[in-house]
Amino acid sequence: MGKITAAITAVQGYVPEHILSNEDLAKLVDTSDEWITSRTGIKERRIMKDGASSDMAAAAVKALLEKKGIDPLEIELVIVGTVTPDHPFPSTANIVCDKVGMKNAWSYDVNAACSGFLYALSTGSQFIESGKHKKVIVIGVDKMTSIIDYQDRTTCVIFGDGAGAVLLEPNEEGNGVMDFILRSDGAGRQYLQQPAGGSAMPASVETVENRMHYVKQEGQAVFKFAVTNMADVSAEIMERNNLSSDDVSWLVPHQANLRIIDATANRMGLTKEKVMINIQRYGNTTAGTLPLCLWDYESQLKKGDVLILSAFGGGFTWGAIYLKWAYNS
Ligand code: UT7
Repeated sequence: MGKITAAITAVQGYVPEHILSNEDLAKLVDTSDEWITSRTGIKERRIMKDGASSDMAAAAVKALLEKKGIDPLEIELVIVGTVTPDHPFPSTANIVCDKVGMKNAWSYDVNAACSGFLYALSTGSQFIESGKHKKVIVIGVDKMTSIIDYQDRTTCVIFGDGAGAVLLEPNEEGNGVMDFILRSDGAGRQYLQQPAGGSAMPASVETVENRMHYVKQEGQAVFKFAVTNMADVSAEIMERNNLSSDDVSWLVPHQANLRIIDATANRMGLTKEKVMINIQRYGNTTAGTLPLCLWDYESQLKKGDVLILSAFGGGFTWGAIYLKWAYNS
């Protein structure tokens, strides 16, 4: 029997219908389509009017299981990457299991901000590789609009809502997750955070009045760390697996800023055609960006394609996954 690897065998996304364009935002805050497009690459983002993160995640998982013809009762483990859980507890993963009917699964959330899907995929793959489980669902979802201040032009133009889910199954053909490098540095927490609502600063009249429940970001500082670390970790995973730029079929980058994506691709020696980009349509959906890219590009992926998934986010957290795509659409 060959070595068991954890392969993605299906992917499905969900984005809310309502679109918030750059022009719409220019009516709310002092900004312009020109500024947002040139600084970030974003043209529009999706906004969830009613419902929570678990509703987007459940919609993605239901569609995924339907298209694969899999009974929800077959799923053994569900991991959700999110920083916008429905509640501090219970976990959003528990709620998604209930909404989808995955009654035999155990489940938990991973909080690693924009690296949430990388962290969840890496940990989920361990349960397949060990032989413990045969069917694991990994989700990246965020309803960023629930923690965005629409009076703050430095953050409200960036983020959007969305979810993506993948199914992991054992593979003995040499495809699936080959390697991962994950990093974190809590010293970066001051630059990107939601200050209030946790045990350090519980909700009070004062925290609400001071708008402390919204995302606060020092954009330039985060940008510098993101450019360096996302490019470094992507190059590192190529080097340690002896991959040249010719070997890599696709870069799947976190969609935070087109300039960060370009810098990462350049460092890896990749041309634009090999880079998945959908930031113009969805903005930054935090844990949702990577599975939403896989969903959008699924029809172009071929069995054996070499993918490098790479992200950087709040925490700081960052990392890269090297995987070989396991199926033709
Ligand atoms: O996904 C998690 C990780 N997050 C990231 O990776 C985000 C990293 N950071 C970024 O992507 C960029 O720093 C931003 C897109 C957030 C900001 O772009 P920037 O080129 O770094 O702009 P800046 O913060 O240096 O601001 C430049 C100017 C400032 O005005 P002054 O001081 O030069 O007069 C800002 O006040 O642009 C101003 N500005 C805006 N102007 C119009 C900031 N936001 C806006 C806006 N519209 N929305």
